[in-house]
Amino acid sequence: MKMNLANIKKAKKLLHKRECIAIPTETVYGLAGNAYSDQACQKIYKLKKRPKNNPLIVHYLNIQRLKKDCHLNNDFIKLYKKFCPGPLTFILNLKKSSKISKIITNKKNTLAVRFPRHSVTRRLLKILEFPLAAPSANPSSRVSAVTSNDVKEDFGKKIKYILEGGKSYIGVESTIIDLRKNPQILRLGGLNVSTIQKILRKKITINNKPSKIVSPGQLKVHYSPGLPIRLNAKNISKDEAYLLIRKKKVSKPNYYFLSQKGNLKEAAKNLYSTLRKIKKKKYSSIAVCKIPDRGYGKTINDRLLRASRFNEKTT
Ligand code: TXA
Ligand code: MG
Repeated sequence: MKMNLANIKKAKKLLHKRECIAIPTETVYGLAGNAYSDQACQKIYKLKKRPKNNPLIVHYLNIQRLKKDCHLNNDFIKLYKKFCPGPLTFILNLKKSSKISKIITNKKNTLAVRFPRHSVTRRLLKILEFPLAAPSANPSSRVSAVTSNDVKEDFGKKIKYILEGGKSYIGVESTIIDLRKNPQILRLGGLNVSTIQKILRKKITINNKPSKIVSPGQLKVHYSPGLPIRLNAKNISKDEAYLLIRKKKVSKPNYYFLSQKGNLKEAAKNLYSTLRKIKKKKYSSIAVCKIPDRGYGKTINDRLLRASRFNEKTT
């Protein structure tokens, strides 16, 4: 994608005024504001209707800038060198001297940090004197946005500006790893746990379904397209959309494919845009075929399981 510097300058100007704007990242679009400003962070919570106890991820250009705000450790440095910038979020301990807004951390002493790879957002971060707090740019508990148009559809005029960055090329949120003690995965995502394991060479616990919620992304109902979802479906009814992992030889108008040949990375990338496409048609529900529970398939299954709990939601 061609970089439009005028757009980046406009984004900078609004962020300086403590406004909240949408930014592109390689995973999903984010709703961004100055992470050092209470006023900017308050706007993010309000716009997203996000519960105040759900902290925000803070986006940095690089490790040098992060040093001011967080204590670093060896595991972090190993993973940073290998995967950053990229789809990995780290939970670290905050420094007492950090200027991060207390609104983000909810008075806790930890911070979720990420180094996005998207070139437009990296260019923006480079010219800012502050990091960007940015949760995914979707109303709380709903499916994330992977294009500027998705953000427009969800927020309309409520959002001051959307920085264009094309379609997010990973298409699912970052993997979250807590590195304060023994490594723990809090959210499956755009980087596979087996790939992280090869670098850390120690036991990594997967704790994305805890009895006690550590990260509200672990909430039962999340990523919902707003209609019921049936998992592992073998048969479908006429008024249902059928979500398949690979293209079938014989197709019907209500069949939606996540990939051409069953490639799980490609399927993850297309998941949210396909759910949004289905939502626009008047189907009663979505039937999902069985998706292999390996690699990116694990991330897809995690998101679809949470989205399917919309059925159980009472409000
Ligand atoms: O790919 C991504 O991570 C995207 C892009 C925009 O960077 N962001 C994103 O943000 O998915 P959000 O807010 O939708 O999800 C972040 C998750 C939330 O579930 C939040 O509870 C968790 O990270 N989180 C944030 N700070 C945390 C902390 N200090 N400890 C534990 N979990 C935290
Ligand atoms: Mg989110």
